[in-house]
Amino acid sequence: MNILIIGTGYVGTTTALVFAEMGWKVTGLDTELRKIENLRQGLLYFYEPGLDEMLIKHTGSGRLQFTTDKAKAIRDNDVIFICVGTPSRPDGSADLRYVQQVAEDIGEHMNGYKLIVNKSTVPVGTQERVTDWVREAQVHPHPYDVASNPEFLREGKALEDALHPERIVIGADSDHASGLLQQLYASINCPVIVTSPRTAELIKYASNAFLAAKISFVNELARLCDPLEVNIKEVALGMGLDSRIGPKFLQAGIGYGGSCFPKDVAALLLTAQELNVRLQVLQHVVDVNQTQYLYLLDKVRNRLGTLAHKKIALFGLAFKPDTDDIREAPAVRIIQTLLQEEAEVRICDPVAQLPAELKVSSVAFSTSPEEVLDGADAVLLCTEWPMFRDLDWTRLKDRMSRPNLFDGRNFLDAGRMTELGFYYEGIGYK
Ligand code: UDX
Repeated sequence: MNILIIGTGYVGTTTALVFAEMGWKVTGLDTELRKIENLRQGLLYFYEPGLDEMLIKHTGSGRLQFTTDKAKAIRDNDVIFICVGTPSRPDGSADLRYVQQVAEDIGEHMNGYKLIVNKSTVPVGTQERVTDWVREAQVHPHPYDVASNPEFLREGKALEDALHPERIVIGADSDHASGLLQQLYASINCPVIVTSPRTAELIKYASNAFLAAKISFVNELARLCDPLEVNIKEVALGMGLDSRIGPKFLQAGIGYGGSCFPKDVAALLLTAQELNVRLQVLQHVVDVNQTQYLYLLDKVRNRLGTLAHKKIALFGLAFKPDTDDIREAPAVRIIQTLLQEEAEVRICDPVAQLPAELKVSSVAFSTSPEEVLDGADAVLLCTEWPMFRDLDWTRLKDRMSRPNLFDGRNFLDAGRMTELGFYYEGIGYK
């Protein structure tokens, strides 16, 4: 089986590399020539640990090639993965125009049986729509199947997650399609769930929504921990040892961001709304998340009296460590609020870059922690990059005008920071 991956974004490139690593012959297709030329030279346009080495390995091994020739790529491959983006519309619904375009391209150029697999996160019922789009675009009535095979990888851990997943979900309505997909993944040792396409599509949304709910639950609880003078980290530890709860995704902080949780939760809420089902728990998950970053700013405001004309340093811009992704990053919202309140902002992140709309005179960016702390009234830790733990905090403290440390990720050791002379506050943790 030859595999075609349409869309060489984050998910597409990782999927292509992982199939090449498993020994399959893979082609990556994209409409953007510049992206394809870079990939051919072994250059990624996003940061993800380990992927660049693997790209160089497999462009060299001959198992992986990149093209912009969609007609030829569709003709030459038996299994086609759709990995294009599904951006949010202003109302929160998923915009499927790229998926539709790909489905129509496949219909137009197919020359025999094709297994079409959707990996993009799409609303429940999309497999049926893709099936229709392909049929309507077909020039000759060749047979095909459309399956759903959602991706569960995390940014920063993409290779680990894709090579060693905890489960593979296959949503197919024919034994032939599910058999082919099981063959493709035969070298991976993990439970495989074979189900209907609708169920597979919902499993993806439900998983992300549940993880988001765990985070909002613990974040709300952290707000209660503050007046109770209880440490949320110990509460989470005690809860997490119950295997029914589990220790992961119980880290309180300034809320979840990224390209998946906010978008997928909004899309699931919209699906429910369209069907007149009220997902009240999930709505509250969003409400908590949208105010969690303000909770940190309240602490800063209380301590400094006002944010106006204060020099505030931010450690971390990315929505989480090991990525340069700033989509829906709580740090970005924090900066916007600080600017509205006329603070002076300095930001340090080892990889992420400042977006164009934040390149204003009252915002300075540096990769040097020392530089951003010079004369600062407070530092807000927004992303738990390991480098921030290893800093010489004693020396850094002396550069600040006031040693106020607000840890939005409960990442540093409160006791040690206090001993060093910082005023330290985390989220439900002091
Ligand atoms: C997520 C899912 O984990 C992945 O399975 C899915 O395929 C895509 O969405 P990702 O967005 O890369 O992956 O990041 P993840 O590690 O899940 O973190 C999401 C956000 O939640 C981050 O902003 C992170 O800081 C936050 N988070 C995570 C917490 O605030 N507390 C936690 O305990 C865990």
